[in-house]
Amino acid sequence: MGRDVTAHGGGAGTAPATALAGDVTAPSYSPRWLALREAADAAARAPGLLDPLRAWLAGSGTGTGPGTGTTPGTSANLVRNAKPDTAADAGTGPAPRTSAASGTGAASGTGADPETSGGSPAGPLVIRDLGCGTGAMGRWLAARLPGPQHWILHDRDPGLLALAASGVRGPAGDGTPVTVRIEQGDLTRLGPGDLSGTSLVTASALLDLLTAEEVDALAGACTQARRPALLTLSVVGRVELDPADLLDADLAAAFNAHQRRVTGGRRLLGPDASAVATAAFTRQGATVLTRPSPWRLGADQRTLTAEWLRGWVGAACEQRPDLAAEGRAYLARRLEACADGALRVVVWHDDLLALPPGAEPVEPVPAPLADHNDPPGAEPVEPVPAPLADHNDPPDGETARGERR
Ligand SMILES: C[S@@+](CC[C@H](N)C(=O)[O-])C[C@H]1O[C@@H](n2cnc3c(N)ncnc32)[C@H](O)[C@@H]1O
Repeated sequence: MGRDVTAHGGGAGTAPATALAGDVTAPSYSPRWLALREAADAAARAPGLLDPLRAWLAGSGTGTGPGTGTTPGTSANLVRNAKPDTAADAGTGPAPRTSAASGTGAASGTGADPETSGGSPAGPLVIRDLGCGTGAMGRWLAARLPGPQHWILHDRDPGLLALAASGVRGPAGDGTPVTVRIEQGDLTRLGPGDLSGTSLVTASALLDLLTAEEVDALAGACTQARRPALLTLSVVGRVELDPADLLDADLAAAFNAHQRRVTGGRRLLGPDASAVATAAFTRQGATVLTRPSPWRLGADQRTLTAEWLRGWVGAACEQRPDLAAEGRAYLARRLEACADGALRVVVWHDDLLALPPGAEPVEPVPAPLADHNDPPGAEPVEPVPAPLADHNDPPDGETARGERR
């Protein structure tokens, strides 16, 4: 999600200079920023998508559950990019992989390669997390799915991957082991063949950093390989600040434009990511379910809110340098209100679950554990017809607010 207040460049490190240099914490996928927002992300992800996912993984869809789909294509891009890792990989071949959680090696406990046995009824769930960062998605999801599980944590940033290797721990929701392997490389090269042996593709805070073509390719890879995808926390370009300020709308529009900027010859999707992904998966015949997953930041999250503000205003002023003077004053008064516990912010995102073509609406199966983050009586999810207008975006797509990655 471009919501990195801290990140508009990718990769760990310090933030690039902005129009408010000196006032604005630099963006980048710094471990500090990822850690700062992890609790808000965990609280925001939509639990309502987990029942249909669990049902599909349990094979109660249309017989297209794990292990039954073919994996056309031969791309081995990710495999070629794979780097035997240090902290997390035994480095002796494709499997068994290093256990980051239980220390038991292969998740199946049989010594078999989970990435070839994965998805079979007897094997572990093999979950490939794209743009894993330090592994927040694994920390959130592993306990919400039955195990055993084998996670392939994929990122291009070796520093983040090293943290992820030791940071994703089980057990799974039913107490079974979770094992981990890390893979460094460019996820946009993912093809259907790379998903052989994968049960589930996940991502969190990633889609808005991609282009429409890249999301299209990802949707094609998942659906052609008949693999479900849970893609969470895509910014939708809408934020609400309370109390309101006259400059909110201008900054929001500038921020959203920044999110959609062209960088390195790539036009980022920014707040269009959820709608573009929904349309792409639907074109491929997938059943797409979406749910809102807003951050709701109040007085108890002042540090995160302040960091988000710096990034949000900084990106907006980078996009619109003419706003810099006003933006500096705005930031000062917003930070003061934040420090006083007098500012509330809602940053809207969408979560998306894409079930492979042919999947029928599925009956929920019970969670392996009490899903303590699930609100009681969570509403059922509805398939989203395509093409999908982003219901969270206003018609002009520019007047709402978003968050910066
Ligand atoms: C906003 S961070 C999210 C990290 C993590 N998923 C989370 O929710 O905390 C986006 C991550 O995607 C990675 N990323 C972005 N584009 C990528 C690409 N083309 N290939 C591999 N990794 C990528 C970045 O390095 C970063 O770790």
